Amino acid sequence: METKIYNAEQAGVFEKAAEIIKNGGLVAFPTETVYGLGANALDKTAVKKIYIAKGRPSDNPLIVHISSASELKDIAEDINDKAKKLIDAFWPGPLTIIFKKKDIIPDAVSGGLSTVAVRFPKNRTARLFIRACGVPIAAPSANTSGKPSPTSAAHVAEDLSGKIDMIIDGGSAAYGLESTIVDVSSEKAVLLRPGSVTEKMLKEVLGEIGIDRTILSKPEGDFKPLAPGMKYKHYSPLCSIRIIKGERKKALEKMRSLYEEAKTAGKKAGIIAFSEDADYFDGCKADILTAGSEKDPETIASRLFAVLRLCDEKYLDTAFIKALPETGLGLSIMNRLKKAAGYDITEV
Ligand code: TXA
Ligand code: MG
Repeated sequence: METKIYNAEQAGVFEKAAEIIKNGGLVAFPTETVYGLGANALDKTAVKKIYIAKGRPSDNPLIVHISSASELKDIAEDINDKAKKLIDAFWPGPLTIIFKKKDIIPDAVSGGLSTVAVRFPKNRTARLFIRACGVPIAAPSANTSGKPSPTSAAHVAEDLSGKIDMIIDGGSAAYGLESTIVDVSSEKAVLLRPGSVTEKMLKEVLGEIGIDRTILSKPEGDFKPLAPGMKYKHYSPLCSIRIIKGERKKALEKMRSLYEEAKTAGKKAGIIAFSEDADYFDGCKADILTAGSEKDPETIASRLFAVLRLCDEKYLDTAFIKALPETGLGLSIMNRLKKAAGYDITEV
């Protein structure tokens, strides 16, 4: 199959995309978090194509995207007070909410669960695309399963060219991390995946919120994360990522010695450095990838997946990165980094 790439500003692009969706095809589109791979959420045959194109396990449910909050009542039950507060505060935006699902949502979307994840994105292109389709759009991140999520149309093309009908290029994703997921379908609201809407922001709106413990540490033994997708190895480039955690100077020394060791062993090694630390690695400039300033976690978040992909473009065997404090957006960044590193964390 030939994958056509259209710029979001091109005339007639949304009509073309809607035609593909109506015929049961797949269209990748930008959102403010990451690019999504969309299909008609009400058409189970179309939805199954998403799993095939991504190589995604079929027990991992998809997020349903809508283009106005009023469409929610058609797909979800029990829109309670907690949900209403979240919708008022964060929709449209980078927040996905889990509801009890209506029967109209096929099992292929919900992975057999009785709930459905719903998101109303803010990105203008995403909204015009969904509106033109006239149906809710089921969409996971538009990457090959296990790879870092795509934050540009080029990332989508890298993974899915030849496997999907169309990519709408809307430039770089503003936030760069997948949406925050909150489950309000039972008594207590629970944070299932941290993103750009932080725990603190959620607490301000809800008063209290539980945290799925797999956000903080590796899911072990029988313990299953509440968002099925969080159990899979994720965000991993081929390059092995290693996190070094500790006081700044000690951590930088350790990164440098591990980097030298890897080089001596004949490996192609790299350092993912925050701008404050770049000078420390003066002698090895060619192997430094810059991740942005520690004072500006928004920029780190928006670049993270592109930097992880760059490690592979540079054919690095291994790359070292310093841990960030796990507060605010740092919790979301570290959640993705730990998965990318397969929980390989060296404490100094
Ligand atoms: O920012 C985002 O959320 C992007 C854009 C495209 O919207 N989408 C995205 O989708 O990241 P995906 O499929 O890569 O991640 C969705 C996560 C998975 O971990 C999945 O298990 C979880 O949401 N999920 C979906 N439906 C769920 C449900 N009913 N209950 C619990 N978790 C659910
Ligand atoms: Mg994903």
